[in-house]
Amino acid sequence: MKLKFANFKMNMTPSELREYLKVILPEIKGLEKGVAFFAPCASLFVFKDFEGEFAIGAQNFYFEKKGAYTGEVSLRMLKELNVSLALVGHSERRQIFGESNEVIAKKVKSAIEESIQPVLCVGESLEERQAGVAFEVVKSQLRLALGDIQSLERLIVAYEPIWAIGSANPAKPEDAQQMHQIIKDSVKALYSQDIDIKVLYGGSVSAENAEEFLKMPDVDGLLVGGASLDPVKFAKIVKAEP
Ligand code: PGA
Repeated sequence: MKLKFANFKMNMTPSELREYLKVILPEIKGLEKGVAFFAPCASLFVFKDFEGEFAIGAQNFYFEKKGAYTGEVSLRMLKELNVSLALVGHSERRQIFGESNEVIAKKVKSAIEESIQPVLCVGESLEERQAGVAFEVVKSQLRLALGDIQSLERLIVAYEPIWAIGSANPAKPEDAQQMHQIIKDSVKALYSQDIDIKVLYGGSVSAENAEEFLKMPDVDGLLVGGASLDPVKFAKIVKAEP
C-alpha cells in the first residue's frame, strides 16, 4: 500500500474542512488506509465528527512538553486530537520561519518520544541541484535531523525538492527514484538495526502525474500540497495506483 498524504498548509478553516471531508470521505471509502490529512492546528478538532481509517497529521508543533512558550502547540495537545503523524523540516518552515537543523533534530526526537510518527521533509534548492550537490545536501539534512536518535524502528521521509514545490514543475519520476534510493541507503547506514523506512515524493504532484511517481519502486507514497485542496483531485490521487 502506498501512502497518500495531504498537506493543506495554511488553508482549510474548520468549516471548509468539514465540507471537504463530507465530499472526499465517501469518495475514498475503503481506501483510507495510508491516507493522512495534515490540517492546520485550529481545524484539527473537526476530525472528531468523522470516522474512517485515515490518519490525522499536524503541520507543526514545539518540541518542549509544556510551559512558557506563547503561541506554541505541544505534542500532547495534538495527541488529544488523535494526531498520529507530524511534518518536521518542511522547506517552508526552514525558509520562512528559520527552522534550523538543530530545531528539526529536537522535533524529530520529541515526536518519537511522544509516539507521534515524524514525517521528515528534506530536499535541495535549485541552485544546489544545478551545482550538482543535491545528494550531499539531502544526506546532510538526514544526518543532522537524526543525529541524536540512537535507535529507530521506522521512519517516514518526504523528499521535496524546493524548486518543485508549488511550481507546476515536478521532479522527473526517475530522478525522485534515484534520490529515494539514496535516502534509504543513507538512513540505513546511520543505524545498525533494520529500519522500516518509507520515502514519499512531494512537489507539484497532481492527479495527472501521481501514477508516474507511484510506478517507481522506491516511491512509497506522495505528499501533496496544492492538489490536495480540491477533494475531487485528491480523491483521484488516493485512487491512483502504480
Ligand atoms: P505542492 O506542495 O504539492 O503544492 O507542490 C507540496 C508540499 O509542499 O508539501
